[in-house]
Amino acid sequence: MDRSAANAVARRIEALGIPLAVDWYVVGGSGIGVGLVEDEGLPLDIEASLPLADLGLPAPGVEGHGSHLVFGRMGGRRVCIQTGRIHPYEGHPIAVCVAPLVAVLGDRPAGVVLTCAVGALDPDLRAGQIALISDQMNLFGPTPLVGPHFLDCSALYDAGLRTRLQAQAAGMGLGALPEVVYAHARGPQYETPAETRALRALGGDVVGMSTTYEAIAARFLAAKVAGVAVVTNAAGEDDLSHEDVKEQGRRVRGRVVALLGHLLGTAP
Ligand code: HPA
Repeated sequence: MDRSAANAVARRIEALGIPLAVDWYVVGGSGIGVGLVEDEGLPLDIEASLPLADLGLPAPGVEGHGSHLVFGRMGGRRVCIQTGRIHPYEGHPIAVCVAPLVAVLGDRPAGVVLTCAVGALDPDLRAGQIALISDQMNLFGPTPLVGPHFLDCSALYDAGLRTRLQAQAAGMGLGALPEVVYAHARGPQYETPAETRALRALGGDVVGMSTTYEAIAARFLAAKVAGVAVVTNAAGEDDLSHEDVKEQGRRVRGRVVALLGHLLGTAP
């Protein structure tokens, strides 16, 4: 993995007197990230809120994404929340897209929660549902690994974290959350009907333009990874707009906050 961008970010954070070590690192997806740190967000005692731009990173250009790295404490655990994503489809090198995550994780053990908006490939999934990612397909997508890093991806998403999130969901009366395979699409265009059928036939349950490369980077750094996906639409549907995707993300984020609220206060 090319860590030069991440190392530069790490040096800037440390130069501000902010320690890097965290128990949890959370990435906020479309319509979700900003809500995690707002008034009705996670019960976080905020230590520092750093604009990504001040760390030498491109601020996410996608509407509905935040632009900060927020460090804080929750129930005795130290947490960092990246309120917005840097996507490869914005033209940024993959090493830059994962730089904040790689900078903060370093090689220290931690838990990572990747949240995202997704389109449904499985016709049984409905907009507004929360799903847990159990596996992914990044066959054609960008990977942060460079060189002979033959990473074992047989259990990229941690089964123990999924069990804990399922227990939390049951306690919230949400029932069993669907566990899904995330298929990566490069974007930024939405999928054609033919692409939607192809991704479904390949084994995808949901489709999105992010997350998979972060999961690979986090796993490479030996972090435990959970993926929490908000279904915002049926993939390939007519008249799909980013407005609708953001709006659905916003509607569900209270439930996402409640789901993560307990997990982030415990050990990864
Ligand atoms: N396709 C790809 N990414 C997405 C979608 C979609 O339908 N919805 C939200 N993110």
